[in-house]
Amino acid sequence: MLILGIETSCDETSVAIVRDGREVLSNIILSQADIHAKYGGVVPEIASRAHTEAIYSLCEEAVKCVGIADIDAVAATYAPGLIGALLVGVNFGKALAYKLNVPFIPVNHIKGHIAAAYLVEEANPRQRLAPPFLAFVASGGHTSIMEVGRDDPGAPFCYTNFKLLGMTRDDAIGEAFDKTARAMGFDYPGGAEIEKYACLGDKNSVKIPFAKVEGSELDFSFSGVKTHIINYINTIKQKNGELTESDKYNIAASFTENIILSVTSRIKRAIKFTGHKNLVCAGGVMANGHIKDALKNLCDDLKIKLYIPDKKYCGDNAAMIAAQGFYEYQAGNIAGLNQNAFASVDWT
Ligand code: KG4
Ligand code: ZN
Repeated sequence: MLILGIETSCDETSVAIVRDGREVLSNIILSQADIHAKYGGVVPEIASRAHTEAIYSLCEEAVKCVGIADIDAVAATYAPGLIGALLVGVNFGKALAYKLNVPFIPVNHIKGHIAAAYLVEEANPRQRLAPPFLAFVASGGHTSIMEVGRDDPGAPFCYTNFKLLGMTRDDAIGEAFDKTARAMGFDYPGGAEIEKYACLGDKNSVKIPFAKVEGSELDFSFSGVKTHIINYINTIKQKNGELTESDKYNIAASFTENIILSVTSRIKRAIKFTGHKNLVCAGGVMANGHIKDALKNLCDDLKIKLYIPDKKYCGDNAAMIAAQGFYEYQAGNIAGLNQNAFASVDWT
């Protein structure tokens, strides 16, 4: 089954063609990061306009690998995200599905990030990832720990069975990276810059309190960490003027270490609670080598298998939406032309 996927929830416009939820035939991504960089973050109205301008030509490019008439269904991100940005993809997707006379499949963006892990397994079908597993999603807008397919493993709908175990109470991890990076003078999005600087710093040089969420062992909080670093930077600037490169190395390394402890401690606890033997870690922040290494070590210690999507499928992309779309279709989750977009999702 060939699914055309569409992703427009934030600042990447993307269209992809994926066969049977696994094999990526095309995955065209146009990032708006340069447009938003001068404002220090994503400007929702500008994002919607840029999606509108880009989506048609990206779609033309993506379908070149097949004939448009070969498309069996259209899947688009309908939630969560920037409402104006989501509406562009949902409306384009519905119009295309109507024109092609194929089903329209609405896909939750977070579920899409997790489904990116199915895309890496194509080389060896015998090692294909299938639910049940524990999943951790870390991106610019989301931080959550979920169980996938706990009920009825093996049934087609186990791929669409999600249970939220923990989430951030304030900033998302990527947001904490970007805000810390901004305070250090890096352009938006600064997560990748912090990764580079962290390689050269001392992770024990800046003492940052470990953030706990009272009464909820699997929830995260990052706003205190970010504020602590911003105050630390302001104090240095008041004393010495600008930050030195060495200050930046140490701040990046200490911040990253705090994030790693926060993530690995929650995941360890979640594995203990649930007993899962497979862990999927996905989302834009999973491009970070320090976090990946820490997760690999944790999984080796606990003797569980770790799946992290290829770097190109960690950030926002439409292939992951088409992948989850395949399983949503199998579970019968198709929508009419009255399907709306939603900025947030209720997981209860
Ligand atoms: O998944 P994604 O592309 O978009 C959302 O759904 O939000 O994630 C983007 C986030 C940004 O906050 C960006 O700074 C962060 O992922 N990111 C990184 C790295 N590369 C991207 N964070 C830390 N280290 C990186 N190497
Ligand atoms: Zn995302």
